[in-house]
Amino acid sequence: MFNDRRTRIVPAGSPVGSGMVAARRVPPVGHHGAWEGVIPIAATSWTYAEEFIAEDDVLAAARASAEEVGVVPVKTGVGAALRFLASVLDARAVVEVGTGTGVSGLWLLRGMRPDGVLTTIDIEAEHQRLARQTFNDAGIPTQRARTIPGSALEVMPRLTDGHYDLVFCDGDKHEYGAYLDAALRLLRPGGVVAFDNALWHDRVADPAQRDAETVAIRDLGKRIAESEALVPALLPVGDGLLVAKKLWVPED
Ligand SMILES: C[S@@+](CC[C@H](N)C(=O)[O-])C[C@H]1O[C@@H](n2cnc3c(N)ncnc32)[C@H](O)[C@@H]1O
Repeated sequence: MFNDRRTRIVPAGSPVGSGMVAARRVPPVGHHGAWEGVIPIAATSWTYAEEFIAEDDVLAAARASAEEVGVVPVKTGVGAALRFLASVLDARAVVEVGTGTGVSGLWLLRGMRPDGVLTTIDIEAEHQRLARQTFNDAGIPTQRARTIPGSALEVMPRLTDGHYDLVFCDGDKHEYGAYLDAALRLLRPGGVVAFDNALWHDRVADPAQRDAETVAIRDLGKRIAESEALVPALLPVGDGLLVAKKLWVPED
């Protein structure tokens, strides 16, 4: 479960097997000063943080069905962060791209207002059937989860602009840039967009990795970090959760 994290914290040049030091190979986006490294964090602390909020039997079952159909759900730390975001936003309306079997969706629903509605999009109808099962098993009223089958880039333009508190993206990594454009239209001012896999198995921080998915995620990070219309943060939970708040921009 925490293989990604263990890989990330063992740095090049550290004593093999010590597992004690966290290190990044490149400075973060926008870093211009002297590079002084990062605070060493032990593997036990990363694991402790990821497991800090426990998952229940419904989420365990959703993870099991994800494995059966070959879907990779969000890690527990990401789920907890999503529930937290939905809660602090007092979210009434959330869009999710990449329903899977409902792991992230259930975390989101549990953070939203009791009458809040999750609109979740997936190109695979079978995944959404399994997600509806997850929501049902968790006692979520059916009207709170609107599952829309289809390609995200075809469905998102049909949703109401400026209506949503939170947009969570976990679909096709090649499309992350286009998801950002669509999400910024859908969000109300003060709303938040979030992307899973922002570190993409340690590939994003390694400039030698140039495959299309890694480049798309890296470009997205750069764009979000440099935007004056957003307040961004890259949270080192799970495989990385990139979040950004949409600022209110006064009209001319
Ligand atoms: C990583 S899984 C999502 C896992 C889910 N967020 C969870 O934590 O349970 C990615 C999902 O995105 C869906 N997907 C892939 N490409 C898509 C696209 N272009 N539009 C909509 N969904 C897509 C896949 O079918 C898959 O179910």
